[in-house]
Amino acid sequence: MSTGPVLISGAGPSGLVLALALRKNGIDVRIIDKEPSPRLGERGAGVSPRSLELHKILGTFDDVNRLSGPIKTKRDYDPLDGHKIASEYVIPTNEPTIGIPYAKPVMLGQNHHERILRAHLEALGTQVEFGSELRGFTQSADSVSVEIVRHVDGKEVVEQSEVAWLVGCDGARSVVRKTLGLSFLGETKDDREMLIGDIKVKGEARQYWERWGDPTKKAVVTRPSSQDADILSFIIGGKIDIPKLLANPNLVRDEFYEISGRQDIVLGEVVWISKYRPNIRMVDKLRVGRVFVAGDAAHCHSPTGGQGLNSSIQDSFNLGWKLALVQKGYAPASLLDSYGEERLPIIAEMLNKTTELLKIVFNRKTGPDTSENKLRKAMTQLGVNYRGSSIVYNEGVERDPATLASAYNKESETAAQPGDRAPEAPVLVDVSNTGTQASLFDIFSPSVHSVLVFAGNGTRSSSSDTLQNLSGVIARQPKGAVRGVLIVSPESGSQGAAACTQANGMFEQVFVDRDGHAHAGYHVPVSGEVSVVVVRPDGFIGARAHSATGVEQYFGRIFLSDSE
Ligand SMILES: Cc1cc2nc3c(=O)[nH]c(=O)nc-3n(C[C@H](O)[C@H](O)[C@H](O)COP(=O)(O)OP(=O)(O)OC[C@H]3O[C@@H](n4cnc5c(N)ncnc54)[C@H](O)[C@@H]3O)c2cc1C
Ligand SMILES: *[C@@H]1O[C@H](CO)[C@@H](O)[C@H](O)[C@H]1NC(C)=O
Ligand SMILES: *[C@@H]1O[C@H](CO)[C@@H](O)[C@H](O)[C@H]1NC(C)=O
Ligand SMILES: *[C@@H]1O[C@H](CO)[C@@H](O)[C@H](O)[C@H]1NC(C)=O
Ligand SMILES: *[C@@H]1O[C@H](CO)[C@@H](O)[C@H](O)[C@H]1NC(C)=O
Repeated sequence: MSTGPVLISGAGPSGLVLALALRKNGIDVRIIDKEPSPRLGERGAGVSPRSLELHKILGTFDDVNRLSGPIKTKRDYDPLDGHKIASEYVIPTNEPTIGIPYAKPVMLGQNHHERILRAHLEALGTQVEFGSELRGFTQSADSVSVEIVRHVDGKEVVEQSEVAWLVGCDGARSVVRKTLGLSFLGETKDDREMLIGDIKVKGEARQYWERWGDPTKKAVVTRPSSQDADILSFIIGGKIDIPKLLANPNLVRDEFYEISGRQDIVLGEVVWISKYRPNIRMVDKLRVGRVFVAGDAAHCHSPTGGQGLNSSIQDSFNLGWKLALVQKGYAPASLLDSYGEERLPIIAEMLNKTTELLKIVFNRKTGPDTSENKLRKAMTQLGVNYRGSSIVYNEGVERDPATLASAYNKESETAAQPGDRAPEAPVLVDVSNTGTQASLFDIFSPSVHSVLVFAGNGTRSSSSDTLQNLSGVIARQPKGAVRGVLIVSPESGSQGAAACTQANGMFEQVFVDRDGHAHAGYHVPVSGEVSVVVVRPDGFIGARAHSATGVEQYFGRIFLSDSE
């Protein structure tokens, strides 16, 4: 394997999540951004339930949770009277369950979101290099030569360097995508151009997402910040003079008053403003040799149900652990093809969904729409799955094409099949550590495969044999990359206690599933034989197995075999 770091071009959400995932895997990264300093603006401010789970595994959840706020009630006003509420409604969300504790999306301005990620990176000694622009690159079989341009005292300073891998997280106008010559097919809806931005607001913090005007003519939507009481994000759409407003941002205030008739809302300075043109496009490849694209560089879509940020960080999280294993020499480079194999079908389906939502949102008069609500529920992304992936494995079960139908499959939120999201399960009592309690989400790690071994309560000697053999398989995998976690059901009584004692030392951690949530959530019968679920570093289930050979089969798809 070549030496040198991974270069990430672009420090938006996808670049930052990738950098953090790699650093947590002990990989050296360089992350650059052409902007001289962090961007302003709330932009993509919704964080989906699946994104919250990503933060939980990545170790950034507490900060995200602390700074975010709930989704607010929506108010649409009468197009003819901006004081008269035409409808008031809440976007329906699901209630939390044991397996899905973060069921509701939250609001967190993208500026704050990015700041949290940068702080965690800095704690690991990695700073974003602002004011550094990737101009171009060429690649060979074992490295990528990149050209990075910096502006110092008004002069351009050009740096040429060699890196092992390059990831373009450089947004919709991606230089990396263009240099690779990837197709970016889809459509641009010029007629749906909008103006978006943040504006200061005086007086009491606003409590609703509000909409004034008639979307078929001119409309304005506002969304108060979750963090800053004096900031209101806005979208103005319809028949407005965008160039005029861009040239003189303060005219936004007049436009707002004209559409809404709400002089009582005291607006201040415009913080930032940008044109937004719904683009619905995606690439057909996410990797060419040593170069990748992720996030908006690979796909862009309408901001409705805005899956932009959410799916961008999932791209990165999917790629991060794979790239780390390859860079360490633990996995073959071919593992990297599974990044595109897994993510492209998700992206294609997401584009369909957001496009449909765009149509509905632009055509409805006021109030919610049942098809809209249904679509929005899919946007939790908890059903996103990789069941069709060639690297997931189900021992002794033929792949059933019928279960592969949908990448956003609702059932896969909790079915715990290979390729599905790995559900949460609380109250695991750690017998190897004086009774400390943990939950599966505490155990999952962005750098480790967790092999969950459900011991069963069978007394046959073959189960202790199986446990012995499983611990052998785990020990033969690359150091630090796999962790064995034994989970004993409380019903197994003295049998279970015996298994615990014996297994102490065989597995890194031994837990009693106090309330049976892990067994239930992973559909493991408490009275059964040994059953194994392998959870990948990105929180997806890589395999289900019932023997050491099955687990070995799975790892054979991930790691280089001993002989290589
Ligand atoms: C103006 C704007 C407004 C948006 N508003 C919304 C919204 O209201 N709702 C919503 O859901 N989504 C919105 N989005 C989309 C959302 O922000 C993105 O989906 C999300 O940010 C994707 O993250 P990313 O990291 O892939 O790309 P980005 O966040 O676009 O980050 C790309 C980064 O790469 C940097 N970069 C670009 N080229 C280079 C280069 N050559 N060298 C080095 N660095 C480079 C850029 O400076 C930028 O920081 C908006 C996007 C934009 C651009
Ligand atoms: C993220 O997903 C949630 C739905 O779960 C959505 O409300 C939000 O707008 C999305 N955010 C972005 C920035 O795409
Ligand atoms: C997207 O929608 C089109 C048209 O409705 C359909 O033909 C296509 O199969 C859909 N693709 C996905 C991935 O859902
Ligand atoms: C455990 O491994 C040994 C040696 O490879 C094998 O003979 C035995 O059948 C295995 N036992 C089980 C239960 O898999
Ligand atoms: C295993 O658990 C089941 C269900 O609780 C119970 O009926 C059975 O007796 C247990 N078997 C042993 C050997 O403990």
